[in-house]
Amino acid sequence: MSAVELKDWTKVGDDTVELLRRYLRIDTTNPPGNELAAANYIAGVLRKENINAEVLELAPGRGAVVARLQAGPLPDSSRALLLVGHLDVVGVDPAKWTVNAFSGTVKDANGRPVAGAKLDVWQAGADGFYDSQKGNAMNLRGIFRADAKGRFHFRCVRPEFYPVPHDGPVGRMLRATGRHPMRPPHLHFWITARGYKPLITHLFVRGGKYLDSDAVFGVKPELIIDFKKGRDGVAAVHYDFVLMRN
Ligand SMILES: [Fe+2]
Repeated sequence: MSAVELKDWTKVGDDTVELLRRYLRIDTTNPPGNELAAANYIAGVLRKENINAEVLELAPGRGAVVARLQAGPLPDSSRALLLVGHLDVVGVDPAKWTVNAFSGTVKDANGRPVAGAKLDVWQAGADGFYDSQKGNAMNLRGIFRADAKGRFHFRCVRPEFYPVPHDGPVGRMLRATGRHPMRPPHLHFWITARGYKPLITHLFVRGGKYLDSDAVFGVKPELIIDFKKGRDGVAAVHYDFVLMRN
């Protein structure tokens, strides 16, 4: 065998999607939290790969998996790496979440819909934090496909402002130029479609703090959106994106 093993990454991707698809079909909604079936499934997948996996039932129906991956004897246990993840799905309580409806279209420069355009969206929450800054559970991000008419919609929360990391060279540069590290509230978009140039942009919330002094100069008037409350009490926003042909 050569030192570098060639992998069929398309197959690896397809296998991963299928594994996750089966995992998501297991109802782990919390409360009440029935992770045991999911724990058994994950442990089975790991064991097939010869990874030692143990299922612990801490309370009836509440399962956890502990797996150890060891390439060789560890010289020093302090060098071990611990990965922790959630098995359950926690639903949303509308009373505790400001649900906003986001809809829009993806069209070309001639106003024709870009059917099937992919929208990768991510945002900070109402506390100004991204999911990755608070733990390892994915939250407030998603991938959506525009329909045949180029339309898309999803639900989001109204994001809040946050500081860019400013404890290193960026912070020194900001201080030297007399600028604060704050970014106004925004949602990120990465839109792709075959035959079109990718569009990476963000949209800013009207009325948000620091709109006129974004630390990274991202704000333009045409990127400011309004969350308007409708008769149903839900704040909704609409935005039309335009993609340029390759
Ligand atoms: Fe951001």
